[in-house]
Amino acid sequence: MITSSPRKIAALNALIIASITAFIYTILTFYFSVFNLIPLLILFIVVCIASYAIINYSFEKFIYEKIKIIYKTIGSLKTQKKQELKKKSKSDDVLDIVNQVVLEWDKEKKQEIEELKKMAVYRREFLGNVSHELKTPIFNIQGYILSLLDGGIEDPDINQKFLNKAEKSVNRMIAIVEDLEEINKLESGELKIKKENFDLIELTKEVMDFMEMKAETFNSKIQIKSSFRTAKIIADKRRIRQVLINLIDNAIKYGDIEHNLITISFYDFHDNYLVEVSDNGKGIPQEYLPRLFERFYRTEFSRSRDKGGSGLGLAIVKHIIEAHQQTISVRSKIGKGTTFSFTMKKA
Ligand SMILES: Nc1ncnc2c1ncn2[C@@H]1O[C@H](COP(=O)(O)OP(=O)(O)OP(=O)(O)O)[C@@H](O)[C@H]1O
Ligand SMILES: [Mg+2]
Repeated sequence: MITSSPRKIAALNALIIASITAFIYTILTFYFSVFNLIPLLILFIVVCIASYAIINYSFEKFIYEKIKIIYKTIGSLKTQKKQELKKKSKSDDVLDIVNQVVLEWDKEKKQEIEELKKMAVYRREFLGNVSHELKTPIFNIQGYILSLLDGGIEDPDINQKFLNKAEKSVNRMIAIVEDLEEINKLESGELKIKKENFDLIELTKEVMDFMEMKAETFNSKIQIKSSFRTAKIIADKRRIRQVLINLIDNAIKYGDIEHNLITISFYDFHDNYLVEVSDNGKGIPQEYLPRLFERFYRTEFSRSRDKGGSGLGLAIVKHIIEAHQQTISVRSKIGKGTTFSFTMKKA
């Protein structure tokens, strides 16, 4: 506490002054042979109290003058806080109040600095990830164009092939940019959920048809398991479609290479429906599971196999589910497969 030191110093100084006065008084009274103990004690106490009062007052005035500017600056930044502190403060001592204001201000600033540091790390990581993801398709396009300029354009064996490959890389870039825009909207809360009443099982069947070609290319079969025919929910249909596409797309990409069986199961779960998308792929090691929904996160396995993903799909899925005030989770067993489960409120 900054208030205790000036008082201690004032008391110490008062004692010194009173002692010196008493000493001079003793010498003088002894010299004139009029020494008396009572007046000496009275003199000592009076000088002590008077010096203490004067020194303490001067000290506080001096310190107050010095810190008045800081106090005013902080106070003007948060007049309301200052009033609150004044009310809360047990003492009327201005130094006490200033001390509390400074401590409070220091706490707030520390919190702000921590937040800013976190944001800076997040921005750095985000930019690093974005440039890393865009680098591959950009370099590919550059390679194909340079080969075509180098004479490849005249070669009927490669010109069409290289142009097709360049187009694929452009599409990859477009997909990454679209996902980034989506993440941005979802994280900034810009995205508005447009709710409507629809049948989740019917939507799942539509998505299955849409994904059929890709599933065949990856030796995957998709099936529905449900003890009921319809599952009416109120949600943003377009977004839930996106969730199903992302989960089924993952199950196709990361499922068993030879005979992948993807099962979409529906369960009646009190006020909600529980939807599970499972595959019989290699599974995901437990240590990766907690980070799976982070943007740009991919397991070692999918990175080494280069399945072409950028690790944004599940981050988008989680945001969409949470925007519906629902939850998504994952469980996985090595060698058995992976299951993603999410809930949706019944209509
Ligand atoms: N069904 C699954 N089986 C095994 N691993 C999976 C499965 N689903 C997701 N993963 C792992 O989680 C990672 C993150 O998935 P996510 O959908 O976010 O990204 P992605 O599929 O790599 O890319 P994107 O979806 O952006 O095209 C994947 O890279 C993969 O390592
Ligand atoms: Mg994905």
